[in-house]
Amino acid sequence: MQHEEGMSIVVVGASGDLARKKIFPALFSLYCQGCLPERFQIFGFARSRFDHAEFRQRIMEHLTCRYAPGESCAARMEEFLARCFYMAGGYDSTDALLDLFVLMREQEGGGRADRFYYLAIPPSIFLDVARSIGNAGLVSCGVERPWSRVVLEKPFGHDRASSDMLAEAMADVFVEPQTYRIDHYLGKEVIQNLMVLRFANLVFEPVWNRRYIRNVKILWKENLSTEGRGGYFDQYGIIRDVCQNHLLQILSLVAMEPPGRFNAASIALEKVNVLRGVPPLTLDDVVLGQYVAGEHAGRRWAAYTDDPTVPDDSRTPTYAAARLAIDNDRWRGVPILIEAGKGLDARMTEIRVQFRDVPQDLFPDANGSPAANELVIRVQPDESIQLSIVNKVPGMGMKMANRNLDLRYKAAFSEQIPDAYESLLLDVMRGDRSLFIHREELQAAWDIFTPLLHEIDARRVVPQSYPFGASRPTAAEKLVP
Ligand SMILES: NC(=O)c1ccc[n+]([C@@H]2O[C@H](COP(=O)([O-])OP(=O)(O)OC[C@H]3O[C@@H](n4cnc5c(N)ncnc54)[C@H](OP(=O)(O)O)[C@@H]3O)[C@@H](O)[C@H]2O)c1
Repeated sequence: MQHEEGMSIVVVGASGDLARKKIFPALFSLYCQGCLPERFQIFGFARSRFDHAEFRQRIMEHLTCRYAPGESCAARMEEFLARCFYMAGGYDSTDALLDLFVLMREQEGGGRADRFYYLAIPPSIFLDVARSIGNAGLVSCGVERPWSRVVLEKPFGHDRASSDMLAEAMADVFVEPQTYRIDHYLGKEVIQNLMVLRFANLVFEPVWNRRYIRNVKILWKENLSTEGRGGYFDQYGIIRDVCQNHLLQILSLVAMEPPGRFNAASIALEKVNVLRGVPPLTLDDVVLGQYVAGEHAGRRWAAYTDDPTVPDDSRTPTYAAARLAIDNDRWRGVPILIEAGKGLDARMTEIRVQFRDVPQDLFPDANGSPAANELVIRVQPDESIQLSIVNKVPGMGMKMANRNLDLRYKAAFSEQIPDAYESLLLDVMRGDRSLFIHREELQAAWDIFTPLLHEIDARRVVPQSYPFGASRPTAAEKLVP
């Protein structure tokens, strides 16, 4: 990567899980691939007390040798870790940030350096941190070099009003073009492929509309419990944790019009148009669930409310399914199901586009009962794209059956599939906001869910119980198109 400036990366909340398990390993992968500038340094910041050596030891445990195989890996790690530093301090302490500034200047060697701040902390302290960074004079104005950028982790607020308040207050320190709201699903390879699949192939776009598509489903399942993160999860629930961000982001890419250009502004514009076309949801459009104890994969799983960090009387949904509509010419009348749940029977994220039946049944006497075409895009695990098509079964007579055109990433591509955080961090360095959530998208996404979330709270809605390991709560079957 060509870079005349140095670069300082500050990971705030560096003692946390996300920093250790995702951000530092992604930065190491970028380093091994030669994607970091010549002069870079990384600073961890959090309240926990470590010296540089202890901090390096903590992050080393999660670095992998994917891009530096063999004996060179240890040497690469050593080089990388020598550029990592740690400073302990309070998030609302300008003095602590001033101390960090001194350390940064020391390590930057007096040269100019771009700076990016990754806020890997709970959103409740975003503002304290941003203000301290701003007060310490660590943010350069505008987007010119050397630049300052901030990366924010979701959730961005808990409804439209709180999200707006946070965005406005953050904008006092970092203006919108400096702000990178991360939704790591957008960094996933299959999600990045959605626009290519739709707009670089002739075969999909002509049939990608209400005339040919019967329904669209976007499914997110986990066969895990909240596993020690129940305290965090219980404040948000599955709608805020998964549906409002990951699933609506996927939907906007599935349903958008072709952008005028392949750049961040044009893409964001089309994504916003999709989201603005979705009428706000009401309780009639959704089914909420919460898992209770059940058997799955040969073991007994406790109920959500048995998690010691979750209140016994929690009404927080661990499952939500919603039937949405998009009120525009392309999608009017096409039911769209989004579904997300923890404690289900599988771990997977999938987009299913089901086509309509052919208008004419040319084979009324054929055996078999073939189904309409379906395109299944598997985001994780085992990335794949499958198109179910109807075929004549080999043999005498006319028997028909569905079989898949089957593109499995592992077999089709010899290249490594980068972790989503690798792609996204590189985009931040390059100043490409295409895969980040712009403010208007965030507002439009909250507008879909905010009235529903308020209604759920006001009516104290009790989610339907489902046993851990179920495919979905039974009440949700009525929503499946
Ligand atoms: N983990 C993931 O895979 C993941 C995925 C998507 C989004 N996120 C989001 O990314 C952020 C960071 O995730 P994480 O898993 O690393 O979180 P975390 O471990 O709970 O928090 C990160 C660090 O923030 C500090 N912290 C935690 N709670 C705090 C509080 N109430 N007040 C002040 N400081 C606090 C702690 O550092 P000190 O005590 O040392 O200061 C902690 O090590 C969260 O907002 C989460 O929503 C995480």
